[in-house]
Amino acid sequence: DEKTQKIMDEVVRLKKEKNAIILAHLYQRPEVQEVADYVGDSLGLARTAANTDAEVIVFAGVHFMAESAKILSPDKIVLLPEIEAGCPLADTITAESLRKKKAEHPGAIVVTYVNSSAEVKAESDIICTSANAVKVIESIPPEREIIFTPDRNLGDYVAKKTGRKLILWDGYCNTHQRLTPDDIRQAKAEHPNAKVLVHPECRPEVVALADGVFSTTGIINYVVNDPGDEFIIGTEAGIMHQLTKKAPHKKCYLASKKLICPNMKLTTIEKVKLALETLEPQIEVDPEIAKKALQALERMLAIG
Ligand code: 13P
Repeated sequence: DEKTQKIMDEVVRLKKEKNAIILAHLYQRPEVQEVADYVGDSLGLARTAANTDAEVIVFAGVHFMAESAKILSPDKIVLLPEIEAGCPLADTITAESLRKKKAEHPGAIVVTYVNSSAEVKAESDIICTSANAVKVIESIPPEREIIFTPDRNLGDYVAKKTGRKLILWDGYCNTHQRLTPDDIRQAKAEHPNAKVLVHPECRPEVVALADGVFSTTGIINYVVNDPGDEFIIGTEAGIMHQLTKKAPHKKCYLASKKLICPNMKLTTIEKVKLALETLEPQIEVDPEIAKKALQALERMLAIG
């Protein structure tokens, strides 16, 4: 509506005034995605944060994403418009609980999903996202034991894909976990010609029913490039905005109405505007923690 458009215009003006860049995850609200300079998956967001010349990064996403941006770009101001936007999956593991696990498996390599705190990253050898988890695991010598944290569903998918045995953590994403095999079967009954594309944070029983398993950007690229024109989408609802924009002639059906991440929806266009006006709330990371976490993130980025 008109009021939203006015706020969006003001955000675009403020962005220039403050030499800021807005990075938005694909699960963000449509109007927030529309003002962003870059919209993408966790890997693309991390790469963009690492390479920007802007003085200020407004991170339209959740806490761990802004934290990673700060670690990769420590000299920049990193803003998280809604400081309460967290990740229940990231909260399933602490540095202390990971240290305990490491003590049980001395010599194991720790691979940690980017959905984790800076402290947990600092205790890890290498980070991965859903886009590069298979490559990251394949980069580790076959004789080494691997602890994979904290997403057990992504871990299960990567273990099957690589044939490696992984020591899994018992974390999962509440939003993806809500998607059941019955939801997929029902969506397929309604759209028998559609291909099923899901995120690897989905349960193994859901992944088993999929035609493709990708990160959010991976799902979008698949829909854009595949000759097929009907797709059932098993990830958070926010992705539908870019699917509609990038593949307007294709039919994409969200696999379930339950696929909404409440944390991703906390960031509103009003809060983005306020963050740019006040340059708050800023994300800070303890320098010692940041140094160690950066090593683990850089090992991931070097893999590509
Ligand atoms: P990607 O966008 O990297 O696929 O991650 C999805 C997600 O669950 C982010 O929290």
